[in-house]
Amino acid sequence: MGDFSAEWLTLREPADRQARSVELLGALVEKLGPGRVRDERTLSILDLGTGTGANVRYVAPHLSSRAQCWCLVDRDADLLHQLPQHIAAWALDRGAIVSGGSSSFVARGPTLDCLFETRTADLSRLADDALFGPLFEGRQLVTASALLDLVSERWLELLVDRCAAGGTPVLFALTYDGRMACRPEDPDDAWIRSLVNRHQQTNKGFGRALGPDAAMAAIRLFGAAGYEVASAPSDWVLGGAAASLQRPLLEGWATAAAEIARGEGPRVRDWLTRRLAQLDAGVSELIVGHQDCTGWPR
Ligand SMILES: C[S@@+](CC[C@H](N)C(=O)[O-])C[C@H]1O[C@@H](n2cnc3c(N)ncnc32)[C@H](O)[C@@H]1O
Repeated sequence: MGDFSAEWLTLREPADRQARSVELLGALVEKLGPGRVRDERTLSILDLGTGTGANVRYVAPHLSSRAQCWCLVDRDADLLHQLPQHIAAWALDRGAIVSGGSSSFVARGPTLDCLFETRTADLSRLADDALFGPLFEGRQLVTASALLDLVSERWLELLVDRCAAGGTPVLFALTYDGRMACRPEDPDDAWIRSLVNRHQQTNKGFGRALGPDAAMAAIRLFGAAGYEVASAPSDWVLGGAAASLQRPLLEGWATAAAEIARGEGPRVRDWLTRRLAQLDAGVSELIVGHQDCTGWPR
């Protein structure tokens, strides 16, 4: 079992879809178009930290002019096991049928031709050549969503090395960038934000996490490795229609803040009580800053 439940990932997927930069992805897709990359037939894509497959469901239709082969990596075997059912419901909406088992399955229909292979692996072992060398080899795209803020600077350097070694284009979406605003404003919002951002930099399994610095670090490191890098904001703007996402988000922020500000539990709880009251009154809006980023080897 991992830290990211299927319920949470399902809850955030509509907000993620709405937030992502379609322009940035469009420019990358244009470059990946037929005749622009090696191997004209099938695009081979590596997705890191796949979870329930939200990144696949967002990206694959944009590449539907090509057959696609996706390698989906996560350390959470339960999430990967559930993938075929998450992909099947989505594929069916596109007239495509999923067949196969949980480690290898296909989605085929009039607008989709995708092979999916899953690998249960701990990405913190990225330096392990025997494990990760073959997974990166021969890919035409390395991608992830909502992953980079969890990783350390050292891990990101290793990722850049692996991608640059193969001259592989990259797409990293929805990296939290430290911006977080609540409306109506509360005097303790800024205090909570600074505590949450400190919590974001605690170890998430990869060493000290980059947290809010991750997007800038990715831009800097891929740029230094010779990539042409582009980025665009992909903020969540959560209003009343996203109340079911706002609630666990606010509760999660309160938990994180209380973990950092030991002894300040009552003040954190009071902040949460006020915010949940705003939510119940239907007037709460949350903005959470993210960045999408693409890199193209020069
Ligand atoms: C925030 S979720 C994002 C999932 C999915 N990409 C999405 O956008 O919904 C982060 C994912 O990274 C995975 N993950 C976290 N640490 C990992 C590690 N050390 N190795 C492999 N996967 C990891 C989690 O299991 C989870 O599925």
